[in-house]
Amino acid sequence: MPEWLKTAVFYEIYPQSFCDSNADGMGDIPGITGKLDYINNLGCNALWINPCYDSPFKDAGYDVRDYKKVAPRYGCNEDLFNLFDEAHKRKMHVILDLVPGHTSEEHEWFTESKKIKPNDAYKNRYIWTNSWFFWGIEGLKFVAGEAERDGCYIINFFKCQPALNYGFLERSEKWQLPPEHPDCTATVEALKDIMRFWLKGDKGRGCDGFRVDMADSLVKFDDKQKSATSAVWQNVRSMLNSEFPEAMIVSEWGSPEKAIKAGFHADFLLDHKDSGYRSLVRNYIDGGNGDSYFRKDGNGNIKRFLNQYLPWYEEVKENGYISIITGNHDTPRISHHLDTRECALAFALFFTFPGIPFLYYGDEIGMRYLQHLPTKEGGYSRTGSRTPMQWNSGANAGFSAAPSRQLYLPVDTEKNTLNVETQENDPSSLLNTVKVLLKLRNSEEDLQSKPNLEILHADSEDRSFFYKRGRCVIGINPGKADTRFPIAANGEFNLLYSIGGCGYENGVFRLGSQSFGVWRL
Ligand code: GLC
Repeated sequence: MPEWLKTAVFYEIYPQSFCDSNADGMGDIPGITGKLDYINNLGCNALWINPCYDSPFKDAGYDVRDYKKVAPRYGCNEDLFNLFDEAHKRKMHVILDLVPGHTSEEHEWFTESKKIKPNDAYKNRYIWTNSWFFWGIEGLKFVAGEAERDGCYIINFFKCQPALNYGFLERSEKWQLPPEHPDCTATVEALKDIMRFWLKGDKGRGCDGFRVDMADSLVKFDDKQKSATSAVWQNVRSMLNSEFPEAMIVSEWGSPEKAIKAGFHADFLLDHKDSGYRSLVRNYIDGGNGDSYFRKDGNGNIKRFLNQYLPWYEEVKENGYISIITGNHDTPRISHHLDTRECALAFALFFTFPGIPFLYYGDEIGMRYLQHLPTKEGGYSRTGSRTPMQWNSGANAGFSAAPSRQLYLPVDTEKNTLNVETQENDPSSLLNTVKVLLKLRNSEEDLQSKPNLEILHADSEDRSFFYKRGRCVIGINPGKADTRFPIAANGEFNLLYSIGGCGYENGVFRLGSQSFGVWRL
């Protein structure tokens, strides 16, 4: 396990929208490098950058045309190597996005693979049926009629994303190859080759790992436990263990008990329907507004989250971490249905929980979800969470010096307090709350990644939640009513930080309306 994960706090950057250094309206790599001090001062010591490779951008870069080349609109490979250097100088780490399940339809492997007589090396790099005449199989999406080759190809997500071939564990057709077929293991080797390219870097200036896109999607008909897909990742992990022991991989899987067994160092809690994570902050899409735990007026309770989280946590705690996100490029922003205080309390929980937290750019200032924005680069409803970072109250909120009409996406100008500069000068701002919370985490070993969680009080009737981590006791009350919780302890509890009215007297913790406190024995 890489040592640096013990203290890691990530900041996710959607490169299109973070900072434009050359006034062309598009965020870029030098723009990110120029903001490393900002990210570091915020309290984040690691970055995850969404795909920044050459791409036709039909899915915002998750349709990779060349895995080994930075998209010219973001700069060049040298710029990315320079970002790694500058981050490492500040003791920060950078992970890239790895898209192992599919490429762009414009990737050279695919253009080769779709020919009448493909080169042997790429004939089975993608999943092709043996005839154009195909009616489909449940569980597979396919495209017909697009290639000279007599066959249909399987896609992973959009039409532009043909699925790479890692084989089928359960097979009913001849064209479904077993995962151990040499053409399928060649796909795994190609993946490792891409990873080595960025991890090694040039002149030893490499990245520190990968966030892995749709990590569970590789072997198509797998068993329930995803044992064949897991075998691919175990293979990748053993390569990392021997060649890059300090590199990390975190999966977009949403099932930590499977992902950690498969070899990932961490797995994300995802905003899936009915997930415990969704019940904390986003339980509004199907259930109305009322039942997110962090809504002041809601009736949500922490048990819905814990019932899912705790069994996972217990199962993985010796071997990997669970990553809680404030949001990401696929979800509505957290501020969409939570006000500033509610967001602050949610962040307080996220940043004092075990595992490795991920903060999505702009969530630290409460950037808004622009729900009705027209789709951009395959974003659809996700586009509203991908708008330019708001740095100051100047032109284009300081994101870019280009004319506004040239920007990748419009800047949200509705609330002029929603920018870094204004919030830096306001001690009570969300930005400063995030800074204090992260400073606390970074200075208290007990509040970092390690698995030292003990639940003290969690109830489906009562909205307050108390937990202990080493010598720290943490209490959160997102609701309106005052709550009290007795705890017998030898010695005094000192309040390290609080939001709202909290106290500890004569063995009783008190949490006022919408409050949070951290005490240390
Ligand atoms: C993941 C990414 C998402 C992308 C999809 C296809 O879910 O997070 O943005 O569209 O995979 O690659």
